[in-house]
Amino acid sequence: MDSGSIDFIDWDNLGFDVVETRSMYYATCHKKKEWEEGNIIPYGTIELSPAAGVLNYGQGVFEGTKAFRTMKDRVILFRPELNATRMGSSTRRLCIPEIGKDFFLSAIEQTLIDNIDYTPPLGKGSLYIRPIVWGTGPALGVKPVDEYTFIVFVSPVGPYFKDNKKRLNLLVTEDYHRAAPKGIGNAKAIGNYSASLLPLTRAKESGFDDVIFLNASNENMIDEISSANLFVLKGNILKTPHLGGSILPGVTRDSVIKIADKIMNLKVQETDVTIEELLDADEIFCTGTAVVVTSVGNVSFQGEDHMIGIAGERSKAEQLKKILLGIQQEEIEDPFGWITPVSAP
Ligand SMILES: Cc1ncc(COP(=O)(O)O)c(C=O)c1O
Repeated sequence: MDSGSIDFIDWDNLGFDVVETRSMYYATCHKKKEWEEGNIIPYGTIELSPAAGVLNYGQGVFEGTKAFRTMKDRVILFRPELNATRMGSSTRRLCIPEIGKDFFLSAIEQTLIDNIDYTPPLGKGSLYIRPIVWGTGPALGVKPVDEYTFIVFVSPVGPYFKDNKKRLNLLVTEDYHRAAPKGIGNAKAIGNYSASLLPLTRAKESGFDDVIFLNASNENMIDEISSANLFVLKGNILKTPHLGGSILPGVTRDSVIKIADKIMNLKVQETDVTIEELLDADEIFCTGTAVVVTSVGNVSFQGEDHMIGIAGERSKAEQLKKILLGIQQEEIEDPFGWITPVSAP
C-alpha cells in the first residue's frame, strides 16, 4: 500500500496522541474457529453491530509495543515476543479465540513495514504499535460471541506525560480499585482501563498526573498506576509488586528487573510492597512501553504530600532509563538479545 504522506507530521512536537497512518492489519475469525490470514488495508473506520460482544460485554483485549529507529539507521522491535505471549494469555482469559505467537508477530511486522516511514527519526520518539482484538459478533445474553476481529494500527508518538522532564505527582486512591486479584487485571483487557478512567480523571482535575491503585484484597499493598508498573527503591533494594493477578505483567517491568539485576547490581525483589515502604522510599518510578521509566516526585496519601528524595542524573531511575533507551536505540550493546531488526541497515 503506497498512498499516504508523512509530510504533515511535526517530528519535533510529537505527543502521545493518535496520528493516522497509511494502513492497518485486519483479520477475522468466524464461528470461533481458527484465525484467517489477514491483510493490510487502508487505515480507517470500521462498522460494528450495536449488539457486538465488545460493546455490550467488553470482550476485547489489546497490546502495546514500540518500533524504534536506531543508531544503526534501521528500525527495530523491542521484545515483541513478550507482547505475543501476553496477547495469548489475554485472549484466553476473555474467551477470545487465541491469537498465536507467529500470527501476532507476522501481523505486527506487516503493519510496521507498510508504515515504516512513520517511525520518528532517532531521538524524536517511536512508532507505537497497537494490536487490538474484539468480539464483533452479536450477543444479547452474556456469552462469548462467534465472530472476532483483529486489527493492528500504529501511531508515531513522543512522551506519554507532556512534560517529560518533570517528576510525577501521584495520588494514592482509597476510593477505587483498578482490578481484583482473581479478576482480569493481569490481562490487557479493555475493561481494566474503563475502571481506571474515573479515578484518573478526578486525580487529574486535582492536579495529579496519575493514580496509584491499592491491592483489592489487601489495601496496605500497592498495585500499579493506570498505565504502568511501579518500582520502589530503598538503599540497594529495588522492590516491585509481584504478579498476584491484579497487575499487568509489563514488558518494561521485566526488562527493568533484568537491567537492575544484571547491569546495575541492585537487589531486586518481586514481592508485596506496602504503602509504608512506598512513602519511605529513596526513589519511586514507574515503567511501561508508553511511559518508559518515569520518576515520581511526590505521592499524596490521605491528604498528605510525601516528597520523594533523589532526582536527576544521580537517580537509579535515570540510569535505568538510559540503559533501556540505549539498548532500544542500539546506542549500547544489547546483552539480552531483546532487539528484532525489521528493516535492513
Ligand atoms: C495497567 C498497566 N500496567 C503496566 C503497563 C506496562 O506494561 P508494558 O511495560 O508491557 O508496557 C501498562 C502498559 O501497557 C499498563 O497499561
